[in-house]
Amino acid sequence: MLTIDARSLESDTALGAILDTLKRQKPGSELTLTLPQPATPVLRGLAEHAPLPCWFSPRQPGQYTLVARDTASRPGVTEYLSWDHDRLDATLATGLSAAAGGDWARANECVQAFRLGLLRHIDIEEKMLFPAFEERTGMHHGGPTQVMRMEHEGIQECVAGIVSSAERKDADDLMRWHANLLGVLVEHNMKEEQILYPGIDRVLDDGDRAQMITDMLLA
Ligand SMILES: [Fe+2]
Ligand SMILES: [Fe+2]
Repeated sequence: MLTIDARSLESDTALGAILDTLKRQKPGSELTLTLPQPATPVLRGLAEHAPLPCWFSPRQPGQYTLVARDTASRPGVTEYLSWDHDRLDATLATGLSAAAGGDWARANECVQAFRLGLLRHIDIEEKMLFPAFEERTGMHHGGPTQVMRMEHEGIQECVAGIVSSAERKDADDLMRWHANLLGVLVEHNMKEEQILYPGIDRVLDDGDRAQMITDMLLA
């Protein structure tokens, strides 16, 4: 994966260099970006750039995974959070194969990145997305967001199990918690990607959708 280390650059220079690099990437190619703290000026510059050149999510403090996007298509909640699902799946898969190979340092690093990313993802859904959907559709209790919130509790229990198994270097327990996680997460993500996210993209007008995208990216 291509890496950009912008820690020695001023925010404006860093932003320009990242945008230049992104222009040369095919949509879908991912890169790792390391930023000086505070990272917000560069992240805000990317999030508010029109047309939106990439999606990004934090991997660990100061480090971000970026994916170049097709700037001809209109960005939406569905596109961002579906990519984030895939990114998190890949992070966990890397951690599990490291554990299977006995590399517990790498396994723990990936599992921590997975935990950080998934908790942020759930936070975005519960604090930004679901309230916007509930407010615009009037569907609160008994609606799809209530089901998603309940499933998030089960998902978080499995993530805690995965983290503690990796810390104890317990491969059997890790596999068991992973199987439990898949039992909830696969269908959960599918329902979000096929029903809930497109529903949210539909009920938001253009201005609110653009604001939601900036808020999600900077979360
Ligand atoms: Fe969710
Ligand atoms: Fe999700």
